[in-house]
Amino acid sequence: MATAPRLAPSLLASQALAEFSSDVIVGLGQPGQKELPSKYLYDEVGSALFDVICLLPEYGLSRAGMRSLKRYAPDIISRLDGSFVVAELGSGSGQKTRFLLEALSRRQRVNYYPIDISSSALHRCQQELGEMDRVSIVGFERAYLDGLQEVAARRRDGEHLLVLFLGSTIGNFDRPAGDQFLRDVRNVLREGDALLLATDLEKPVPQLLAAYDDEAGVTAAFNKNLLARINRELDGDFDLSRIQHIVRYDEAERRVEMHLRSTTWQRVTLRKARFNFFLREGETIWTESSHKYDPQEVPRMGERTGYRCAGQWFDTEWPFAQNLFFAV
Ligand SMILES: C[S@@+](CC[C@H](N)C(=O)[O-])C[C@H]1O[C@@H](n2cnc3c(N)ncnc32)[C@H](O)[C@@H]1O
Repeated sequence: MATAPRLAPSLLASQALAEFSSDVIVGLGQPGQKELPSKYLYDEVGSALFDVICLLPEYGLSRAGMRSLKRYAPDIISRLDGSFVVAELGSGSGQKTRFLLEALSRRQRVNYYPIDISSSALHRCQQELGEMDRVSIVGFERAYLDGLQEVAARRRDGEHLLVLFLGSTIGNFDRPAGDQFLRDVRNVLREGDALLLATDLEKPVPQLLAAYDDEAGVTAAFNKNLLARINRELDGDFDLSRIQHIVRYDEAERRVEMHLRSTTWQRVTLRKARFNFFLREGETIWTESSHKYDPQEVPRMGERTGYRCAGQWFDTEWPFAQNLFFAV
């Protein structure tokens, strides 16, 4: 895949490392609950582990997204009037996007722009979708909104934008931040542009907990890899043999939380960041949230953030919705 140019690779890498280092210091240095941004779960190892998570029997979410797009992509695409370019936020390997691109490419040539902070995810996306007829791909190794702004600037007069935000990745934002993110996306769009937003729906708590704490321990490895990444990139000395993967459901917030819990007191030094701190016995670092939705709340999220909901399509095996919004 062609990848949109940015800065020289060495400059880019040192900027990314400086940003990583500063976010880690803020998240681990704050009083109270320690936190790390979930976007840092996706380095090369993390992206590969996430692809395995999508195959796990417990992680029904990914198969639900796949099944619903396989079944409903022609109907979803039939709701779009005119010519569209496609931007995908956090494309990952782009596996389920194939169904949408196939349906759209039956009526027009498609320019598809996957946007992901993980270069290895973009690489896999190219392998997955690079051979499709009538589809050309340019990947953007960027944060969501930076990438979207660049894609929007490339479109020609008369072309609409279809933004995909699949996999219920919106659930990583808490509800107010999710609304703000939808507003920020809307600010880049023009009236008539579309957003396909996938949302994982509420379901029994044991089923949700198992989805993020599988028997084979792949999600635990995905979570712990964040500290292993800190050890690798910031020359840290987290003792991972004394770290446990923990999953909780917060009933009030309707979200699954992933944490990393230290089983003993440990002092940690991150030499490259010139930073040290300690973890108390039992203390956790919060690494990811996955909010779950009521089907009726999703159109309302759209309405209060600058869209109209034109349709919802549901998976019946694993409650999950594809929601089509138009910018108004
Ligand atoms: C949960 S995965 C979903 C992947 C894919 N959309 C799917 O449905 O399987 C989230 C993806 O978003 C990317 N990502 C996370 N935070 C990001 C950010 N702030 N900007 C751009 N990409 C991000 C990750 O690298 C990862 O590939």
